[in-house]
Amino acid sequence: MVARAQTFVCQNCGAAAPRWAGRCEACGAWNTLVEEGAATPARSSRKGRLFVIEPLQGQTREAPRLASGVAEFDRVTGGGLVRGSVLLLGGDPGIGKSTLLLEVAAAYARNKHRAVYISGEEAVAQVRLRAERLGLSDATVELAAETSVEDIVATLSQGQTPQFLVIDSIQTMWTQSVDAAPGTVTQVRGSAGELIRFAKRSGAAVMLVGHVTKDGQIAGPRVVEHMVDAVLSFEGEGSQQFRILRAIKNRFGPTDEIGVFEMTGAGLREVANPSELFLSERELGSAGTAVFAGIEGTRPLLVEIQALVAPTSLGTPRRAVVGWDPSRLSMVLAVLEAHCGVRLSGHDVYLNVAGGLRITEPAADVAAAAALVSSLAHAPLPADAVYFGEVSLSGAVRPVAQTAARLKEAQKLGFARAVVPEAARNEAPEGFILSTIGTLANLVVDIARDGTPALRRVGRQEA
Ligand code: TYD
Ligand code: MG
Repeated sequence: MVARAQTFVCQNCGAAAPRWAGRCEACGAWNTLVEEGAATPARSSRKGRLFVIEPLQGQTREAPRLASGVAEFDRVTGGGLVRGSVLLLGGDPGIGKSTLLLEVAAAYARNKHRAVYISGEEAVAQVRLRAERLGLSDATVELAAETSVEDIVATLSQGQTPQFLVIDSIQTMWTQSVDAAPGTVTQVRGSAGELIRFAKRSGAAVMLVGHVTKDGQIAGPRVVEHMVDAVLSFEGEGSQQFRILRAIKNRFGPTDEIGVFEMTGAGLREVANPSELFLSERELGSAGTAVFAGIEGTRPLLVEIQALVAPTSLGTPRRAVVGWDPSRLSMVLAVLEAHCGVRLSGHDVYLNVAGGLRITEPAADVAAAAALVSSLAHAPLPADAVYFGEVSLSGAVRPVAQTAARLKEAQKLGFARAVVPEAARNEAPEGFILSTIGTLANLVVDIARDGTPALRRVGRQEA
């Protein structure tokens, strides 16, 4: 039924080319073209089958969402998994994808749902061993070590449809419907397609695990990202125990929520109050750190921003940043230089967001600036203060959304004051002190006033 024709398929983006080339014309990646037999469906004379067209306002019988009970997972998926949906979970090897999904499967099983875990990478005994370590040996999760998609679909089509199906990983699956070697883009796409059809037909929620390449792409099957309903990513610094689950795409929910876990000797522990975790290793009284009152999705999140500003020995000073946007740092440095009289061109600048978190909010500008100036002036910031606000190119500090939620979280965690944009003046919770700043220069003057005498001129240069 499948007509054969040789094509070269880019293993990065899935684009097909008629002949080999060193560089993929579609995505520009080098050395990614691999010869694969292209699957061209044979022309068929089959007549179209008639199907039922339903009104939009019809009733769906079953609950549209199935919560797992793992709150951090449910938050990221938008309140649980939608029936018949397919999700892709990406992440570095060893970050804890298999561990997370085994725990979620066990949570579903505990709530009397049928959960099936298919591993293409580990033997059943290995998965069992892990379950034992996680204290889940008694969970009624069904296990199999299989890689043939046809066999998996045939087996699962018998009996009760699983509510939750894990395929670990999509790169190890292969389907007979396409003629290409396992692990190639064509196979991954074909296997994902078969599993998506199974999900839509049966109503099972399917979770596909996808490996991530060195540069953070979900390897090869970027094409799969377009096919699935949601793409989640599981992130963390290898050396640290925090793990962050994030939705990159979600047809059925928000994409700005994060779930926070901690990897322990007995599996992943949910972190209900991440601010406490991200602030737990704070060094009080040292210069160059500021606490940012941020928002991740709907949840306020306090995190420490650390800066080190040191005289450079290089012609071009170094700017290194972890967890924040480098171009945002350049902007803040330029504003400090142009509008606040803070000379940084002779200094190396390092900026780090504690705990391996990645911040995308512009509201972090003021906190980053505070940490930078504090480091330059050797002036520790008050330990009980939080900072937020967006900085414009003119040096003005602009208001940000959800001021009240940020301040409330700060108060809850024992902070007593905040340095905020002027528009936030009336939003302080009772007993909380606000210092409002109209421009970044105000902030610099305030910090430099407390600095060592040699560096006080930092503030005095201010216009
Ligand atoms: P794993 O879930 O196998 O990662 P992935 O599927 O993303 O490749 O996690 C493996 C890592 O997690 C491994 O380095 C050991 C660590 N780990 C723990 O620290 N505690 C545990 O209870 C488990 C099961 C794993
Ligand atoms: Mg794994």
